[in-house]
Amino acid sequence: MAFSVDIQAIEGYISFIEEITGITVPDVDYRNLMETVERKASSRGCAREEYLRVLRNDALERENFLNCITIGETYFFREWKHFRVLKEALFPEFRELAARVLFWSATCATGEEAYSLALFASEFLGLPFIVYATDINGDSLARMKERRYGPNSFREDGRAYYDVVLRNAVLEGKTVVISRDIEKNISPLRINLFSGSLDELPDGIDIIFFRNTLIYMKPEAKLKVIGRLVKKLRQGGYLFLGSSETPLVEHSELALQETDGVYYFIRTVRVP
Ligand SMILES: C[S@@+](CC[C@H](N)C(=O)[O-])C[C@H]1O[C@@H](n2cnc3c(N)ncnc32)[C@H](O)[C@@H]1O
Repeated sequence: MAFSVDIQAIEGYISFIEEITGITVPDVDYRNLMETVERKASSRGCAREEYLRVLRNDALERENFLNCITIGETYFFREWKHFRVLKEALFPEFRELAARVLFWSATCATGEEAYSLALFASEFLGLPFIVYATDINGDSLARMKERRYGPNSFREDGRAYYDVVLRNAVLEGKTVVISRDIEKNISPLRINLFSGSLDELPDGIDIIFFRNTLIYMKPEAKLKVIGRLVKKLRQGGYLFLGSSETPLVEHSELALQETDGVYYFIRTVRVP
């Protein structure tokens, strides 16, 4: 039997989440949202309507609540062709510049994307590098720091590069534990891309992966977040979105580029 949700009861929460994160909660997640609100309200000993006021006034409660409702679906080497473009087209270009390379996995969830970047750079780049790994969800970042990944973090898409993971990890039963040598290149930060400060991140980032998050945003929110990311990207730096998200983005400082059927953006050089 289909579960029906009283949308009126959660409308205020849907708007609140959109206002803080830019994310429009998809219909399929209404049930989770309703259950989370009821559970949290009851543990605070307040009514569902009143809990919204608690969220507005209590930063820690807000953080814990957002940790429960964000969607952290991810796995190693997701959209593996993006990584092939790094290795075959962009890493050779970076080697000519011979400078430290700054990567940013902008919504890293539990870290599979950030580790994929660090694993790849460590094996194929040949230059010092840092991967900034950011997400709004502090619980996900804490899981990333544990470096432990089960079978769900490895899917068919991505299989081409699983040997790279295994060369840099140990197996404990069905759990893959990524080596500390890879982790030391990762800088995790809890950051809200939509309405938080980006000051902890350096300017002049070379490669941003911001994938599979824009799909949950309305056009105005997309525009705002892309604008904030572009400011952090160096001129001539690259931005990768999820392949279904790329056609939805237009920005005056981004030019679409294609390599072997993979589309991504380069930040164009501004003429003074
Ligand atoms: C579907 S996951 C994408 C993970 C990874 N980028 C990938 O492509 O596999 C979306 C992530 O975006 C994060 N997120 C949502 N809104 C955010 C915001 N405003 N600021 C930072 N992270 C956000 C969520 O916490 C979640 O971990």
